[in-house]
Amino acid sequence: MTRRPDDAAAAESRRALVVVAAGSGTRLGHGIPKAAVTITDRSILEHSLDAVTDELNLDLVVLVLPSDPQFFEQLSAQGSGLASRTGTDVVLTTGGSSRPASVKAGLGMIAEYGQPRGWAPEHTAVLIHDAARALTPTEVHQRVAQAVEAGAEAVVPAVAVADTIKEVQTPAEITEKNDDVVVERVAKTLPRSDLRAVQTPQGFTWSFLDRAFEHIKEIDDDAAARLTDEAMIAEALDVDVVVVPGHPHALKITTETDLITARGLLDSAGAAQKTPEVTIEAPRVGIGHDIHAFAPEGEPIELWLAGLHWPGQQGLAGHSDGDAVAHAACAALFSAAGMGDLGTHFGADTIGTSRPELQGAHGTVLLAEAARIVREAGFSISSISVQFIGARPKFAPRREEAQKVLSEAAGAPVSVGATTSDGLGFAGRREGIMATATAVLLPVSG
Ligand code: CTP
Ligand code: MG
Repeated sequence: MTRRPDDAAAAESRRALVVVAAGSGTRLGHGIPKAAVTITDRSILEHSLDAVTDELNLDLVVLVLPSDPQFFEQLSAQGSGLASRTGTDVVLTTGGSSRPASVKAGLGMIAEYGQPRGWAPEHTAVLIHDAARALTPTEVHQRVAQAVEAGAEAVVPAVAVADTIKEVQTPAEITEKNDDVVVERVAKTLPRSDLRAVQTPQGFTWSFLDRAFEHIKEIDDDAAARLTDEAMIAEALDVDVVVVPGHPHALKITTETDLITARGLLDSAGAAQKTPEVTIEAPRVGIGHDIHAFAPEGEPIELWLAGLHWPGQQGLAGHSDGDAVAHAACAALFSAAGMGDLGTHFGADTIGTSRPELQGAHGTVLLAEAARIVREAGFSISSISVQFIGARPKFAPRREEAQKVLSEAAGAPVSVGATTSDGLGFAGRREGIMATATAVLLPVSG
């Protein structure tokens, strides 16, 4: 973060954050200060400081730590870590026996730091945050600070309440205790839509806080103890308290149940981060078609079809073996990959010039080559289907065999079906055959 020079104009606005972390955590009951209790493998204080990022543009962070030397020492490492991570000045102090006393100690450090640097109390926004609200996001700090800088003297973040809240009384005549449950009576139900659960950080102008702590000196200890947050002092002094949106994750870790909830929130956030981003790319479908005429009766040529040799059957005319089934499969692969057609890769010109080794190659060789080409272009072959149409040869008895040979050649499942054309057309007149194929390719990402 860019530091502003100390002799900058006094009226320049400043931001300071006080994190109170000196409490004993009695209700959590871990026997150590609450700020040192770990949520996952990091302490509550460390988590609460995650929200302090460069984006907050803080001039100072004050950490109010437990006075026990062991925990002061242990938690002070978080201060050094924060300073080196953000470049913000971080000062440490020990807290008092109550939260207001700890806040007061923190404000004392702001005075010590800000006064010599000429900070103007009315232009200094002070955020007071409970370390116990360990998962409060940066955005809440930002909203509170901005509201102070926009002119509010006191700002609280708050969320709507889900429970119906009732005010209760313990009437004088009811004094009996029932299994440690104090019997209470409902005095009234508060209208839920008007209620907010208030969180931290709460934001104030430094000048307001000076007045507020003067006020505390004037009230008795009991009244001071009832001040659970600084905004209550603003209310007592008739200062408007502005409410900005808080965050459901900013819960105060008070009991073991809260700790479990916080752990769950962190686990689910971690799992979401670890989940690799899966890009589902749409499959690509291609179509291919091939037709070959039977060679004239006077020219005995062996028949190769669907990768199989058909002894005793008249062969097909063409510059290759005329295996229309295999060729249609090749064409469908190129079509799905958007790589042209059979002629593009295995046309007479191509084979005559750039690929002479494919001269007269069998259909299975071409199919294996077509499969290699589309794979090299970044596709995996999901499946190929071919429909053979012809009056001869009689295909059904060798269908399984054909599928096996073609699947081996393609390195992917190839299914073949066959039909006659019911005596119609060139296939019906036994002049030639045709085959139509589809192929499904999946783009391979990365
Ligand atoms: N706090 C503090 N100094 C105190 C008491 C509280 O700095 N003497 C801080 C806590 O560390 C906490 C925040 O004020 O971050 C809110 O207090 P609370 O949740 O009540 O924490 P504890 O006082 O530690 O818990 P408990 O009341 O259960 O002992
Ligand atoms: Mg407490």
